[in-house]
Amino acid sequence: MNPVLRLTGAALCAAGLSLAAQAQTAPPAGRLLASNCFQCHGTNGAGPGFDKLSGKSSSEIYKDLKEFQSGKEGNGIMAKHAMGYTDAQLLSLSSWLSTQR
Ligand code: HEC
Repeated sequence: MNPVLRLTGAALCAAGLSLAAQAQTAPPAGRLLASNCFQCHGTNGAGPGFDKLSGKSSSEIYKDLKEFQSGKEGNGIMAKHAMGYTDAQLLSLSSWLSTQR
């Protein structure tokens, strides 16, 4: 085989392996979206910090976030955060947070 082709093949193979390794270690989408919340609500939403998020149901968290997003609730900090997410993202991160105890 042409050495250039062989090298390209090896590089592609290595790239494929590293993609596979990444897929295995990648956190769930909900956790990735929620990681933005950890600086204020603690790692995995479990405190210390502002209100603890772990232990709440997915629908409670989602409802709170939609209220913050509307600007009717809170002092503004959470409104700004909630606005940065789509409904699908809020559902995904709420559902992930609800699995944390
Ligand atoms: C900069 C700090 C900060 C970040 C980042 C942050 N929050 Fe908050 N969060 C607060 C504060 C402060 C409150 C208290 C409510 C208020 O005063 O607006 C709060 C309240 C909440 C509440 C209501 C809790 C309750 O028991 O009433 C929920 C739910 C919530 N945050 C979810 C989140 C989620 C989900 C994220 C990530 C997308 C997030 N927060 C990111 C500061 C933050």
